[in-house]
Amino acid sequence: VRNMPWRKKWLDPAECEGGEEFGSLLERRAYEVWVSEVMLQQTRVSTVIPYFNTWISKWPTVDALAEASHDDVLSVWKGLGYYSRATRLHDGAKVVVSAKDGPCKIPSGVDALQKIPGIGRYTAGAVSSIAFGEAEPVLDGNVARVLSRQLGLYVDAKDKKSTDVLWEVADVLVKSVAGYPDEGRSSIPGQWNQALMELGSTICTPRPKCDECPIRRTCRVYAEGETLSLKKAAVT
Ligand code: ADE
Repeated sequence: VRNMPWRKKWLDPAECEGGEEFGSLLERRAYEVWVSEVMLQQTRVSTVIPYFNTWISKWPTVDALAEASHDDVLSVWKGLGYYSRATRLHDGAKVVVSAKDGPCKIPSGVDALQKIPGIGRYTAGAVSSIAFGEAEPVLDGNVARVLSRQLGLYVDAKDKKSTDVLWEVADVLVKSVAGYPDEGRSSIPGQWNQALMELGSTICTPRPKCDECPIRRTCRVYAEGETLSLKKAAVT
């Protein structure tokens, strides 16, 4: 996995004493993952990096963001596009801060995360797995393409039945690689999810570079010689 400013060493609750300081570190980490995932939803990694760095130096915590003026938020977002993302992030920060006090105001579970404005299933899964080490899946267009090709599912990514199946597949996979529930929280779910995202955005693209793919030997669509077939395209 490549180095990115929001990718930091996973904070293992078991290695720390817990308490005040650990809670606020974890909150910062969760906030950084949240900000980065919202920025990355419609924008490529190389564009996001400078915006992410400016954002975090201006508002290093969810409390700081909650207190920001909306005009300021929009001006830092300027150039990233899809401005409703900035508004929802700001609204979400205000809700998190007003709903709870303490060293880690951002919840770790996907259900609680999805109650925050602007956090859907994808962002909830990303924050829960990457920051908190929970065995929760993510599914975006890139992950959907990787999984459907690996399994040889010739499905339409826009079809609700297909995405339901792919969410289920992503869930079973992340839980089995993480040794869930026996192993508890670990860095594995976040690394797994980010590896899938990255494979889908760099190699397993709509026109895939199969000769560079580290997992082509297990890929059903590759074995069938159908990666570029338009008629039978697995998720494009
Ligand atoms: N795309 C969206 N989120 C990502 C992440 N955490 N790593 C790599 N690519 C991503």
